[in-house]
Amino acid sequence: CGIIGYTGPLDSKKILLEGLSQLEYRGYDSAGIALCMENSRIQLVRHTGKVSNLKKGCEDIRQVSHCGLGHTRWATHGGVTTENTHPHRAGRVILVHNGIIENYHQLTTDFHLEGKLLSETDSEVAAWVLESLYDGNPAEAISKLVTHLKGSYSFCMMFEDHPGEIYAIRNVSPLVAAYTHSGSFVASDLTALIPYTRQYFVVPEDHILRLTSYKVHLYDLDLKEQEPEILEVNWNMDAAMKNGFPHFMLKEIHEQPDALKNTILPRLSKGLPDFTDDQIPDDVFKDCNQVQIVACGTAMHAGMAARALMEPLLRIPVTVSIASEFRYENPLVDDKTLVIIISQSGETIDTLAALRLAKSYGSRTLSVVNVKGSTIARESDFVLYTHAGPEIAVASTKAYSVQLAALYMVCCRMALVREKYSVAEAEDFMKKLLDSIPAMEAMIEKKDMVKALVTHLINKPDAFFIGRGLDYAFSLEGALKLKEISYIHAEAYAAGELKHGTIALITQEVPVIAIATQENVFLKTISNIREVKARGAFVILLTKESMNVEPGIADIQINIPDIGDRFTVFPIAVVLQLIAYYASVGKNLDVDQPRNLAKSVTVE
Ligand code: G6P
Repeated sequence: CGIIGYTGPLDSKKILLEGLSQLEYRGYDSAGIALCMENSRIQLVRHTGKVSNLKKGCEDIRQVSHCGLGHTRWATHGGVTTENTHPHRAGRVILVHNGIIENYHQLTTDFHLEGKLLSETDSEVAAWVLESLYDGNPAEAISKLVTHLKGSYSFCMMFEDHPGEIYAIRNVSPLVAAYTHSGSFVASDLTALIPYTRQYFVVPEDHILRLTSYKVHLYDLDLKEQEPEILEVNWNMDAAMKNGFPHFMLKEIHEQPDALKNTILPRLSKGLPDFTDDQIPDDVFKDCNQVQIVACGTAMHAGMAARALMEPLLRIPVTVSIASEFRYENPLVDDKTLVIIISQSGETIDTLAALRLAKSYGSRTLSVVNVKGSTIARESDFVLYTHAGPEIAVASTKAYSVQLAALYMVCCRMALVREKYSVAEAEDFMKKLLDSIPAMEAMIEKKDMVKALVTHLINKPDAFFIGRGLDYAFSLEGALKLKEISYIHAEAYAAGELKHGTIALITQEVPVIAIATQENVFLKTISNIREVKARGAFVILLTKESMNVEPGIADIQINIPDIGDRFTVFPIAVVLQLIAYYASVGKNLDVDQPRNLAKSVTVE
């Protein structure tokens, strides 16, 4: 969910609605605002659907308000209804919430809330508990409230008898705040603050934030005032705008070559990967006997590709786990395990919990994160920031390719310090990694070719992606992209495995996107392509220019430039992203905000 709060001299309605549009990628099931009006009256406006519905619903508000809260929801507890839309009002308390209160049922009983609740949300329960504890001092009531809560949360609150003030507290779920000449702000992420300031701070966990139009105060739970640690944003507003592109996703696909340069070049010293500035010493890479990668979604797929690269090269076990599984499987990690956590947002709650678990087992943790100052970045022993800039489209593109670039550099450094690579071999690896940047550019230029081929996909209910080895790891992400934004059911299969069951689904005209860029398994994959072709599949083959493909194997063939086999993921990722993008556009769907999804999942 997305949260924004503002108090200051400007028109809060305008700021909240603009902020919610910026935050909409965090959830778009419903949205609402609460405005502090004259005579301390608080007006709520809440609508199901997108922020545009809320905007229409706010058109009639003529009175200017200077303090308010906004929320855009990704439904967890309770369906998508106006009653379940935030902000929630409980007596004098107005509250918005991101996260899950696990003991809301118990709290309903303990605080005798049956009969009071108008919604099905755990958030409204928290609002009523706060109202019960409130005797005129907001900070005291908030500090009592948190002793009753189990779960994760970030709350922003207003109290009807404290006009012009906003309070906030968080545990796990993110919140950032800023004081500027135009007033005080709090939000679930930076994108909402960027139009107003470059300086901000991350609200520390279990600290109470109090915003007035003149200042931001921070208190610990004993209500002692604390100094926030001010950070500077390293990207500007342009980065969070579409800049002439029809969708954020297309813009972000185009940004990949630069994102890769920004991630790789500052860490290149004499042609070798160097993490001195990141303060990652070589013993992190030397003193481990296995690598455990943990992540969710696309980040997990970046981990799958990294695993396929790392294990054969480093000759130590490299395992990839889905964060939500890792947490509960009593994982085999110890103080000799390097745990690599991958997360664009740095806030995904399962990934964060996995990080904490790994630390409790004594493992060293290295996170690959895009958002500076995010919780995962702050809690990891070491952090390698990817420099993709803000990624707004829900379907991840540039964050994936920079995660790969960072992981490839880690792999190269590990090979060097573990003496699997000579200096010359490591230099050659890095040179080839850099070659992948123009290869990506070349594929972006071929986008019209991809646009043309999606006519063979968009009317089909299913599609298959096949490949072996690294190509299989790439297909996983290709299938996910297509599912997410075109709603075409897609599955990725290790090409050799298809015949053990799934081939039953291959009939006339079923699209099969076959990836064959790895020389060591090329002929085997071609045999698998023949198997599906023989059953009538429509084959779209993605391969390298130099590969010798017999005529008739594929219905459509797209060639990527000839680069080292290990690096083909970069241009291939562009093609797979463009296939999904144009399929979504071709079906007239909401590319940047596909149904049911949210960019940053801060619930378990
Ligand atoms: C959500 C997003 C995915 C993303 C995943 C992990 O499910 O929709 O695109 O890959 O979370 O996010 P993270 O921020 O941890 O990389």
